[in-house]
Amino acid sequence: MCGIVGYIGNQQSSGILIDGLKRLEYRGYDSAGIAVHDGENINVVKSKGKLVNLVEKINKAPVRGTLGIGHTRWATHGAPSDINSHPHISGDGTIAVVHNGIIENYIDIKNELIEKGYTFVSETDTETVAHLIDYYYKTGVGFVDAVYETLKRIEGSYALGVICKDFPDTLVAARKNCPLVIGIGKNENFIASDIPAILHHTRKVYFLDDMEFAVIKSDSIKIFNMDKNEVKKDIFNVEWDIDAAEKGGYEHFMIKEINEQPRIINELVSMRMPKDKNFIDMSGIKLKKEDINELNRIYIVACGTAYHAGLIGKTLIEKFTKIPVIADVASEFRYREPVIDEKTLLIVVSQSGETADTLEALRIAKRNSARVLAVVNAVGSSIAREADDVFYILAGPEISVASTKAFTAQVVAMELIAFNMAIECGALSKEEFETIKSEFYCLDTKIGQILDESEKIKALAEKYSKSRNVFFIGRGLDYVVSKEGSLKLKEIAYLHSEAYAAGELKHGPIAMIDDETLVIAILTQEKLFDKTLSNIKEVKARGASVIAIAVEGNNIAAGEADDIIYIPRAMWSIAPVLAAVPAQLFAYYMAYCLGTDIDQPRNLAKSVTVE
Ligand code: G6P
Repeated sequence: MCGIVGYIGNQQSSGILIDGLKRLEYRGYDSAGIAVHDGENINVVKSKGKLVNLVEKINKAPVRGTLGIGHTRWATHGAPSDINSHPHISGDGTIAVVHNGIIENYIDIKNELIEKGYTFVSETDTETVAHLIDYYYKTGVGFVDAVYETLKRIEGSYALGVICKDFPDTLVAARKNCPLVIGIGKNENFIASDIPAILHHTRKVYFLDDMEFAVIKSDSIKIFNMDKNEVKKDIFNVEWDIDAAEKGGYEHFMIKEINEQPRIINELVSMRMPKDKNFIDMSGIKLKKEDINELNRIYIVACGTAYHAGLIGKTLIEKFTKIPVIADVASEFRYREPVIDEKTLLIVVSQSGETADTLEALRIAKRNSARVLAVVNAVGSSIAREADDVFYILAGPEISVASTKAFTAQVVAMELIAFNMAIECGALSKEEFETIKSEFYCLDTKIGQILDESEKIKALAEKYSKSRNVFFIGRGLDYVVSKEGSLKLKEIAYLHSEAYAAGELKHGPIAMIDDETLVIAILTQEKLFDKTLSNIKEVKARGASVIAIAVEGNNIAAGEADDIIYIPRAMWSIAPVLAAVPAQLFAYYMAYCLGTDIDQPRNLAKSVTVE
């Protein structure tokens, strides 16, 4: 949610900032801006709308200077507009600030500053930070101390990049509850909300932790805690490929990421389920028999797509361990005073590892002495760093706002965790484990077979692109995939779509079914097949068009559904990974037909670092 970037060195900064912002646009894209120090003054250019608008402005009137900060916004305080865009500057242009997060006590501070004579031009919380730093600076404490005094006053969440007119050699950064990395270059340094923004320049980064601030010059980086003691950090070497964050010939990141799934699943399975071993490699994760025996309950907490992956984990873990598992969305979990003690295991699932509600759920659990296992994609993210144990899904950077490859990798991760617990609890025989293993080893090929059907799914999307009401129905794990399929359609095609447990449909929503409704029924669960088939008949009888997603061999008679997508056969627990793929492709092609902005859908942001 909002992306920030900063540069200090000996190159012209505006190009570097724009390039960084391009790679951060997935975090917010309703307006953007940069502030560049030309040696004497700070020059600010900002523009409402996508980054291209800003680029146009800069091309017309270039800004020069080797120190700069930039921002791409997802509006929280004040509508997207030129004025509300970041960077925000203090009245006389002494201080410029970019900010990701929310300053919760900004109204009190704003009133205080107005009384002192400050004039506000925007509706944002961030402008308060610029004026407050300016205020302290003008008391004579010095630039860095002015930022420090401000950090002591502001409440809420922030990643900040700050520059001062009188210090063309200094960039100050700070963080609380919003991600910030510092890129280490040679005679140049960077800050960014996320690694891809600076990966073209350096692979060496420091992760700033909460309540730390950094004083960055072109040849030095000093990091301090709020006691003003210098903090020594380890350098983190980014190992993934730069190409992973590029489109690589695909029209959209989303379709590229959908197509990456066979490789990612194959790598994850090979790493965690070595072919020649009869166990799941859970290195570094405390989930041995004695650890599991200690548990009285497990929570699985996440948001959005990650929550859906968590729901699959819930079904499997509960079935095998017989320990009660409660799955919850993080924004609810954190406010409902859940029962947590030292016998609780909290599993958080997060692609970005930065989602504010999920991070807070983790912290609540830790404060109450629970153990926390994080299933995370972004290496070195806040959730990964604060959890006791981390299961990395290793899906590489996911740029499309709508999550696809991270979802299937999260599901596989949850399944591996569940099967590992089953082995530890004695709930799986060696033979059963061998069958599961061979199923996992075929997953990549089977996903590939579904991807080969992309043209057919595209044709279906074209056929149904006029639909305005869509229901996804399924039972058991198919219901979970229905939720994910429905979310994808909402996110990128802006279609009204609901997921319903197939058996629940007749308790109300069936009243909405008519001949303009499209129902997508998922039927991968063998023992529930006939039940869901009956539900299909109920909606067909009321005029709905039906697309069924079923496994090969479970034939659906002509006339029972209007269209059928057959997916390769797989055991019940693994089939959701396969069923998700046609749902992703259908949403993608629907959005394609409708001409929406697929990778950056309206109103959304990939990394939600505000509540
Ligand atoms: C946002 C994204 C979703 C994502 C959710 C949770 O809403 O648009 O795609 O599923 O956040 O994000 P996380 O990074 O915690 O998985």
